[in-house]
Amino acid sequence: MIPQPVTQSPLPDQTFTLQSSATVGLVGDSDAASRVADHLATLLRVSTGFPLPVEPGTGTITLSTDGPSSLGAEGYELRVDSTAVTVTAATPEGLFRGVTTLRQLLPAKAEAGTEQAGPWEIDGVEISDAPRYPYRGVMVDVSRHFRSVAEIKRCIDLASLYKLNRLHLHLSDDQGWRVQVDSWPDLTKHGASSEVGGGPGGHYTKADYAEIVMYAADRFMTVVPEIDTPGHTNAALSSYADLNADGEAPPYYTATEVGFSSLAVHKDLTYEFLDDVFREVAEQTPGDVIHLGGDEAHSTPHSDYLAFVPKAAELVVKHGKRVMGWHEIADASLPAGSIVQYWGTDDDRAQDLTRNAAAQGAEVVMSPANRAYLDMKYDQDTPYGLDWAGLISVETSYSWDPATLIPGLAESAVIGVEGPLWSETLDDMAKLEFMAFPRLPGIAELGWSPASALDWTTYKVRLAGQATRWDVLGVNFYRAPEIDWA
Ligand code: ACM
Repeated sequence: MIPQPVTQSPLPDQTFTLQSSATVGLVGDSDAASRVADHLATLLRVSTGFPLPVEPGTGTITLSTDGPSSLGAEGYELRVDSTAVTVTAATPEGLFRGVTTLRQLLPAKAEAGTEQAGPWEIDGVEISDAPRYPYRGVMVDVSRHFRSVAEIKRCIDLASLYKLNRLHLHLSDDQGWRVQVDSWPDLTKHGASSEVGGGPGGHYTKADYAEIVMYAADRFMTVVPEIDTPGHTNAALSSYADLNADGEAPPYYTATEVGFSSLAVHKDLTYEFLDDVFREVAEQTPGDVIHLGGDEAHSTPHSDYLAFVPKAAELVVKHGKRVMGWHEIADASLPAGSIVQYWGTDDDRAQDLTRNAAAQGAEVVMSPANRAYLDMKYDQDTPYGLDWAGLISVETSYSWDPATLIPGLAESAVIGVEGPLWSETLDDMAKLEFMAFPRLPGIAELGWSPASALDWTTYKVRLAGQATRWDVLGVNFYRAPEIDWA
């Protein structure tokens, strides 16, 4: 199982078998809890062919939100004995996490999209579980190469299987602007029609974005939208000449250099623009965070950068959201409640900035580029991906502790982990899946399981066990030679 639960005790000589007469019982009614029950029943109806009605009260599989609040928002208990399965939580979210565990206890064919032959057996077990960290994310760069709504839904499905709860969408960069903003229509009329390599690009309409947000919410995943500033802005600058310091719009950019573009930090129009963009993105985002980027602003003079970040941050706060940004923003003064995302490679500068973030009271999400970046090649033979942060084997991506990676950073400042999937070289879903699997489940385990449970030797055996599941789901995963795939 991945992530490894906090405690897990086998019930010897007890085996549960799901029969055609089984029901899904729901105790503690709420719309959200019944959606969790429907989600499970729908999945299992397809693969088992059983009717699996969802009914109030106790069932063969009982899902209960009457658990004690001591379980926390995402915690749950799960018991499987010879007669019944019970998942107990204090919230629908905890119930959903418990159902995720139940799915991994069932045979992999339970995930199939067509009816399969049984038996549907689960070994008896008692599990008590809750996450180590509240923020467990994956980032998809839809700017360098655009991904459709259907493809993002598949990302959500695959990530939520491993109890990830944040979907960070990198919605703007030099190569393309990907989200509709009514007050600045050329961002998508013009700025969305490019991507790396000269492909057509694309963007999310407001309806598309709402569909992604809703689909994620149904899987208890919060969307974190990123509008990268003040660098990584060629697509916006190309859409509106007036946003440029010299008043001239640059052409589309379809290559992969970084650090050449900058918003005009001395123009009032720049802040009117960001006010509008953050307002419209905030209106569509139920989550409490907007990510304003802040990375690699190499063509923004540093004193200008230090003046820009607080002004941009204030606009995020004005629209009711917490500020999130890459670790560079911690050089500036940050509003209360900010979240800083570390993407360093063990270098002193990045670690100093991240310690500075914590000293300012900011929370920290760990995405060390030389461990957590899912777009880095596994080894020199990996057919795509980058290698500027190093070659990242499955073991390297798993074998680190988010709490202790940065010396001197208070453990209490770290709120979680995220695996970023940058897409300069990844132009289709098969390539994204190849880079994310099998490394993303390891990042998910670092975010969920207690430090005492993190152990490569036993993890790699559990990881091998996921392969049959990925085969059923059609995941294009990399059969890394480090793993003894069954
Ligand atoms: C980054 O990789 N530029 C955050």
